[in-house]
Amino acid sequence: MADIGIDLGTATTVVCHPRDGVVHDEPTLLVEWPARRGRELLLGDEAAAIEGRTPPGARIGHPLRGGAVTDLGLVRTYLHQLQRRTARGRWRLRRPHAVLSCPVDATPLERRALLESAEEAGFGHVDLLAAPLAAALGCGLDLTDSRVQAVVDVGAGTAEIAMFCRGVVLTDRSCRHAGDEMTAALRGHLRDEHGLHLSAPAADAVKVRSCTSREAVVAEGRDVVSGRPKVTTVEPGDVEAAVAPVVRRLVVALADCLDDLPVAGVPDLLAGGVVLVGGASLALHLQEELEAALGFPVKVPERPRTCIAEGLALAGGRPELRARPA
Ligand SMILES: Nc1ncnc2c1ncn2[C@@H]1O[C@H](COP(=O)(O)OP(=O)(O)OP(=O)(O)O)[C@@H](O)[C@H]1O
Ligand SMILES: [Mg+2]
Repeated sequence: MADIGIDLGTATTVVCHPRDGVVHDEPTLLVEWPARRGRELLLGDEAAAIEGRTPPGARIGHPLRGGAVTDLGLVRTYLHQLQRRTARGRWRLRRPHAVLSCPVDATPLERRALLESAEEAGFGHVDLLAAPLAAALGCGLDLTDSRVQAVVDVGAGTAEIAMFCRGVVLTDRSCRHAGDEMTAALRGHLRDEHGLHLSAPAADAVKVRSCTSREAVVAEGRDVVSGRPKVTTVEPGDVEAAVAPVVRRLVVALADCLDDLPVAGVPDLLAGGVVLVGGASLALHLQEELEAALGFPVKVPERPRTCIAEGLALAGGRPELRARPA
């Protein structure tokens, strides 16, 4: 039986079946809603729709924060619900096998804890693959290539940089200069420059809408002084100005990772470029700014948000890539 690819991210979980493609692409969120008989568990989009509007007694759970597992029990419950909701066809009848994403710098202890949680959640057999390597597979890079390749995955909680040769990581970095930091910067900018207070999910939505449309967007929140409702127009320049310091810090992390690369690998990157994936790769001008700062071609693949899960599903057929901790 082929394996399911699950990219368990801080903000989004993407599930990819080897034959059916992406079958789930929703927020990584679980809400325990007080129901007449016990509790009701809401997952993904359903949970996000009521975030910030929950009554006393409801519990909101983010299984990951900043790219790291916060609560293994919550991860187990979340994966159990996810498996029940995404299982289809033959997968309904059996404990499916899965390949899960993990941070490139996860310790053996962290890997083991994630594996055990997933197996306890109802998966038959679980393997892990670092997100940047999965992304490389998912966007069609050849992991048997003996030239050095590089992937930068800018997610919500973390940006992960990996430079590898024949599928083996030579040098890597993990840092917090990613989507959540960009959202926090935009929130601060709107508070200081426009006197507008937005919740974190509202600021994130404004950021994504602005980066997608590249036009002015309307933001609705509260006036920081009077506390009254306030509507403000956010220009693309606001988003650009707010995220610029985060992009600069990301450039420093990338340059730092590059310093550790054996010099023979540099021409490979000059020729092949760096692949930029993850949701925040779509941030306004990020690709151009990384290119200008580093001097390497930076390429964003066709599906930068889902290529990690697609690569994980492909890795199911490549046992040599998957590594269970000792
Ligand atoms: N069009 C867009 N423009 C800018 N940012 C975007 C866009 N779409 C999504 N994002 C941002 O991408 C981030 C989510 O990306 P992704 O789903 O890759 O993260 P994740 O895998 O959940 O997180 P992590 O890998 O850090 O655990 C969020 O911060 C979101 O605001
Ligand atoms: Mg991710």
